[in-house]
Amino acid sequence: MTAENYRSALPHSAELHHRVQQVLAGATGHDSWRLNPFAPIFVSAKGAYKHDVDGRSYVDLWMGHGSLLLGHGDDEVVDALCRQAAQATHLSGLTLPMIEWAEAICALVPSAERVRFTASGSEAAHLAFRVARAFTGRSTIVRLGGHYHGWIENLLTGLVDGRSIGLPEDAGGDIAVMAFDDLDAVEERLSAGDVAAVFIEPGGGGSGALPWSTSFLARLRELTERRRTLLVFDEVISGFRYSPGGVQALAGVRPDLTVLAKIMAGGMPGGALAGLKEVMSVFAGGSKLADGRLPIIHAGTFNGFPPSAAAGLVTLHRARDGVPQRMAEGSAALLCAGVNAAAEARGLDVRMFQNSSTVHVLLGATAAGIEPEPSRESFALIAEQQAAHSELRRQLLIAGIDMHASHGWISQAHCPAVIEDAVARFDRAFEAIVNLGAGAPFVANVCAKTCFNATCACRARVFAGCDLPLADAAGEPTAKA
Ligand SMILES: Cc1ncc(COP(=O)(O)O)c(C=O)c1O
Repeated sequence: MTAENYRSALPHSAELHHRVQQVLAGATGHDSWRLNPFAPIFVSAKGAYKHDVDGRSYVDLWMGHGSLLLGHGDDEVVDALCRQAAQATHLSGLTLPMIEWAEAICALVPSAERVRFTASGSEAAHLAFRVARAFTGRSTIVRLGGHYHGWIENLLTGLVDGRSIGLPEDAGGDIAVMAFDDLDAVEERLSAGDVAAVFIEPGGGGSGALPWSTSFLARLRELTERRRTLLVFDEVISGFRYSPGGVQALAGVRPDLTVLAKIMAGGMPGGALAGLKEVMSVFAGGSKLADGRLPIIHAGTFNGFPPSAAAGLVTLHRARDGVPQRMAEGSAALLCAGVNAAAEARGLDVRMFQNSSTVHVLLGATAAGIEPEPSRESFALIAEQQAAHSELRRQLLIAGIDMHASHGWISQAHCPAVIEDAVARFDRAFEAIVNLGAGAPFVANVCAKTCFNATCACRARVFAGCDLPLADAAGEPTAKA
């Protein structure tokens, strides 16, 4: 039934799925874009909206996986890109934009004294592994459960339960995965003296679904310093979003290395490893080090790609006063309030919460007694309810919202009028879910009686224990439940 509604709402995308299956491996380009029975095919975007091959518009809450802080097609970014594309896309060497890009990063990020560009965040995290091992002469990396650092080989270790096929038998052999909230255990592990670095998403793992705190980061800094272990902040999401200088500027905790991507490249591909001068000295030129070993080997055809530098420079320039970040964060708060009110009015157990300007959706949290906030429980609930999140995603697409199955990113382009529109679209999706008679986790403890509440539009069902007045078959109010 839902699949049919979805298919008839997006007929051209449905038709194109046949071609997708013929040429795209796994019928997608990114695991999180996959959706049954097919994913929409997009053609264009501007501001906070994007459009598909059926000519439908969507409020975009995906926003280039969080890379588009200024929104789609920002005029200044587009101008800079066009100018750079006309001038040169690739000069096989150093360029002025690359120097300025590195200068902008060093000016904003407290721990950035030297920068090495890559083509993606995964590559930058991979490079951080190598730099940490080269600098310390140790091999073990500690990473925290639920914190994401990209898809490459051992960066995936401990991210998901079970093993992905295709990884070498020993992938992750020198990775120690620790609980994200147990600093005593980390302290004990560091005491073995073999740990090169501790990796963390300082703004909260799982794109901000897990919590973070200044005191946690400060203690981790103290523990790593005491053991001469490097502290690596993966600020691919939080960098330039939580504040112009990322979480490290907000928390006043300086890591040794910082992994960057997304906003830094203004919606274009790009990443960077930034770090303290002393640590980044492992890149020092020359064919051999004093002890005879070779320096770090690092290449990459698209490192410091000039068009990415052009888009990134405009974005970092505009983000340096914190205005886009504050606007996005304010809009995220408005969205959460609106979505939660709409869900409640329809008797749905759907809750949205924010971490900076990322938003997360929980299904069944009230029934499970889980607060809508970053926590171990929220994170686990999202993982448990994947099928229901896909159902919500289909309904949101029909209603004109595109977001990742459980989270989204808000940009400066999501002004209050866009948020109002987004909330109305969420409400349409909620209405459809109610009309489809969805059960748990959307509706907790369903009561057979009909809701009768002048301010409530659902008039369908209420939670057991609800003290709203109820209606009889003719719609007249009766005694309370
Ligand atoms: C925290 C974090 N680190 C690393 C990455 C990998 O970046 P990329 O997708 O550019 O390879 C991501 C991507 O979402 C991320 O969220």
